[in-house]
Amino acid sequence: MAGEVKSLNYIDGKWGWPKGAKEIKSVNPADTRDVICTIPDSPAEEVDRAVAAARKAFTGWRRTPAPGRADIIRRASALMTERKQKLGELVTRECGKPIGEGLGEAQEAIDMADLAAGEGFRLYGDTAPSKVPNKLCMTVREPVGVCGLITPWNFPIAIPSWKVLHGLICGNTLVLKPASDTPKCGEEFVRALVDAGLPPGVLNLVQGRGSIVGEAMSHHRGIQLLSLTGSTEMGRRIAVIGGETGKKVSLECGGKNAEIVMDDADLDLALEGALWGAFGTAGQRCTATSRLIVQAGVHDKFADMLVKGASRLKLGPGLQATTDVGPLVNEGQLKTVLEYIRIGKEEDKAELVLGGRRTTQGALQYGWFVEPTIFKGVTRTMRIFQEEIFGPVLAVTKVATLEEAIEAANDSEYGLSASIYTRDINHAMLATREIEAGLVYVNAPTIGAEVHMPFGGVKGTGNGHREAGKTGLDIFSEWKTIYIDYSDKLQRVHLG
Ligand code: UN1
Repeated sequence: MAGEVKSLNYIDGKWGWPKGAKEIKSVNPADTRDVICTIPDSPAEEVDRAVAAARKAFTGWRRTPAPGRADIIRRASALMTERKQKLGELVTRECGKPIGEGLGEAQEAIDMADLAAGEGFRLYGDTAPSKVPNKLCMTVREPVGVCGLITPWNFPIAIPSWKVLHGLICGNTLVLKPASDTPKCGEEFVRALVDAGLPPGVLNLVQGRGSIVGEAMSHHRGIQLLSLTGSTEMGRRIAVIGGETGKKVSLECGGKNAEIVMDDADLDLALEGALWGAFGTAGQRCTATSRLIVQAGVHDKFADMLVKGASRLKLGPGLQATTDVGPLVNEGQLKTVLEYIRIGKEEDKAELVLGGRRTTQGALQYGWFVEPTIFKGVTRTMRIFQEEIFGPVLAVTKVATLEEAIEAANDSEYGLSASIYTRDINHAMLATREIEAGLVYVNAPTIGAEVHMPFGGVKGTGNGHREAGKTGLDIFSEWKTIYIDYSDKLQRVHLG
């Protein structure tokens, strides 16, 4: 029955509810009458307990050979594969995305587990010649220590998987705080690893609020690394506190991603890309297409195609097979998105050409549904061009040339993802070189990153790290350089 499922903390191998902690409810954003679980509003002391457990488990886990660590991850991959349907449905029920995307997300975590497990047999370092005879130089990866992971609600299994699995394979012990909007997804992901045989203390789960649990993690002196995916505001705060307390901090924050459509583009393909990029996950991805920069020759035609295409998208609960666009995650997001729509309407010359309202028809009144929304005539100084909205709102801007298109795309404090649709190889190459972003797609939308490739952004989006891929290992490990001198004498390398 609704409300009876309790999602517990997992600390030092035991599931538990912190004594006296109040309840926070997790509800289905498509129908808030559907309570998925309650979680404890954990106090900061739970973070202390989790860090102590992680610290205690660190030596044993660090000394477990990486292929042995990989065995557990491989078993977790198999368990998540068995549980994929349930995991996908849970993702949909708890964060709202359509079921195809929910299942896709479960698959992303499985892929990530396979990638991380494979690393168990690699974790390669380098060897190098020495300047002097009979001496070997080499590097090995070592874990960083206890890592605090703070994850968002929009990819409630996939993003924890990027952080947890690379964290584990490198030999770290972890404290995970999932978003309070999607705690059950965080729990089920942890459960797969626990059921796969992860030793107590290696991965600890603390449910609760960012302002208490996240804050305590940022300040905690027993944590050596913080990895956060969330808002730029939160990221900056954590970077400051993390810096003051001597932590390595890896951030993955906002985006204001542009799709460029050139006159020579395959317009049908560009349209599909724009609809998926802007309205997939109801625009609630850091990589979502929120700006469409269209060359003048096709602008009017493409804008019409876009409005037609987007008006055909079906809004509804994600568990319904016919749904293209699900709800926003919570009332706060609904308010933010509606506020940006209001701002857009008031902005000089921006023209609302589709959507713009909350939908409350029938059963949709119980959820946080906003129509796919498109503004035309958007210029670079407008707030809807500059600020991250994180909802199904697309701003269309007209440009004359490729140069102007790239300049417009780069006119942003963020730099996560971008895309260009063109059939001209020269245009494509110039765009991939000149666009300031961590990810650039050619003839593909701004969303859809793959786990074996580095993920992250430049400028306000990040702070120089890349998750997933092989670069994720660089976040979760430290390099140790080892010199072995077998000459039996003191060799002075830099003398004279
Ligand atoms: C995010 O929105 O925080 O590339 C991550 C994509 C997804 C990841 C998005 N695989 O759109």
